[in-house]
Amino acid sequence: MLQETITRDQPARSWADYVVPQCWECFAGDDHAVWDLLFARQVELLGSRVVAPFLDGIDLLRLSHPGVPELSELNAILTPRTGWSTVAVTGLVPDATFFAMLAERVFPVGNFIRTREQLDYLEAPDCFHDLFGHIPMLAHHDFAEMAQHIGELGQAAIAAGQGHKAARLYWHSVEFSLALESTEAKILGAGLASSFGESHFSLESEAVERLPFSVERAVATPYKHDAFQPLYLVSQSVEQTVAEVLALTPATLLAL
Ligand SMILES: [Fe+2]
Repeated sequence: MLQETITRDQPARSWADYVVPQCWECFAGDDHAVWDLLFARQVELLGSRVVAPFLDGIDLLRLSHPGVPELSELNAILTPRTGWSTVAVTGLVPDATFFAMLAERVFPVGNFIRTREQLDYLEAPDCFHDLFGHIPMLAHHDFAEMAQHIGELGQAAIAAGQGHKAARLYWHSVEFSLALESTEAKILGAGLASSFGESHFSLESEAVERLPFSVERAVATPYKHDAFQPLYLVSQSVEQTVAEVLALTPATLLAL
């Protein structure tokens, strides 16, 4: 996930410098058991509350296979399909690095999983958030293209000292968005799809605002990274989100 604060001075390092071996064999038996517990609990909780392409992605990528997914096995399915691949990192990467990765269809995945004692509280996104939340939609061709485009927009925005605009766009499209299917609001964002508490909250709480998605509203709307969102943007469809974001050029983003 991105933080709201984006600095202009990012370390002049290649994104590849942040990549580490996943060391799948380093995951203990209980780590795999925690994945299985989180996966089973979240699939049951989501039911049909999530957009259909997300559920398709779970099946396509065989994420229901027991245990923490091995990135090389996941990439063997994902990369031929949409050109995306996953790499392991030790935690949050700087925003400039994150956008540079997205621009090259590379998604960073934490090389750790929460403990059994921390099932519902995370200080930093772990591999369950990164893999269960994000990767299913990266198997969807149009969403995959949109995510790459956000990476390119993010690089341009940071270069112009306006990284917060791309961060907000990312947040309200990729992380915490809702989308209609027929007339029913469904979860689209990875932060919601992978959250035990906020997935239902986002759809059912009467204490939050839900407004129609537009790129203008997304860019104008700050977000919280340490609490449930007070406002969710709801697009007409996954296709609307994708089309609006893809139509955005760096120049139009910076002018918003
Ligand atoms: Fe995320």
